[in-house]
Amino acid sequence: MTSSKLRLGVNIDHVATVRNARGGATPDPVRAALLAQEAGADGITAHLREDRRHIRDADMAAIAEAIDIPLNFEMGATEEMQKIALATKPHAVCLVPERREERTTEGGLDVAGDDNRLAAYIAPFKDAGTRVSMFIGPEIAQVEASARIGADIIELHCGLYCDLHDEGRFDERDAELARLTAMATHAHGLGLEVHAGHGLSFDNVTPVAVLPEVVELNIGHFIIGEAIFTGLGPAIKEMRRIMDAARGLS
Ligand code: PXP
Repeated sequence: MTSSKLRLGVNIDHVATVRNARGGATPDPVRAALLAQEAGADGITAHLREDRRHIRDADMAAIAEAIDIPLNFEMGATEEMQKIALATKPHAVCLVPERREERTTEGGLDVAGDDNRLAAYIAPFKDAGTRVSMFIGPEIAQVEASARIGADIIELHCGLYCDLHDEGRFDERDAELARLTAMATHAHGLGLEVHAGHGLSFDNVTPVAVLPEVVELNIGHFIIGEAIFTGLGPAIKEMRRIMDAARGLS
C-alpha cells in the first residue's frame, strides 16, 4: 500500500493538568484545542478520567462545541462515561483501561478477556454513528477480538516501544517495533483502521510514522511539554513536519 498523509491527533489533557495544579481557570484546554486546530492538528483527543484529574466534564463539552476538527473522546468503558460520551456526540470514542492509581494509561485494554461486555457496550455508539476505537497492546488476541466485536479502529499502544527507545535498549525496542508492525498489518487485513499513540516524541516517532497501515497518531504529553519551551503551535508544526518527512511527503 502507498504511504499517505498521517493524521495528527493532539491530546490536550495536560493543559488541564497544569490548570488544576492551581485550581483556577488557566491555562484553558479549550484555548489549547483551538490553537492546536490552527496549527494543523487533524483532531483533538481528550480523556475524561473517572477521577477527573485533568479534563473535566465541562471541558469536554466546551471542546466539542468549540472545535471544527474531529474530537476523539478517550474513556474507560464504564456506564457513567457511556452516558456522557453519547451526550457529547464526539467523532470517535477510544476505550482505554483505567485504574485510579496509575499516572497514565499503563497497558492496553483487555478486549479478548471482556469481549461480550464490550460488544454490548459499544453498540449504542455504533447506532449513534460514533466511531469506536480500542486502545490495545500489539497482541494478536486483542487485535482479533477488536475486529470480532465490531470496533472500527484499533489504537496500538506504543508505550513499551517508546520506553525501550528512550532507555537506549535498541534490540528490545526493535523487537517491540516488529510486534507493532505485524499487528498493524494484521489489523488492516481484518478491515480495522489503525492508529497509534502513547509516549511518542520528536525523537522516537519516525519508526512508527513510517508504518503504512497507521493512519493516525495521538500525541499529548511530549507536545504539551515541548510547548513550554517553543509554544504549542511550533511544537505541533514540528511534529507534523517529522511525520510528513517519515511518509516521504516533504
Ligand atoms: N492515546 C491514548 C489512547 C492514550 O491513553 C494516551 C495517553 O492519554 C495517548 C494516546 C497520548 O499519550 P502521550 O500523552 O504519552 O502522548
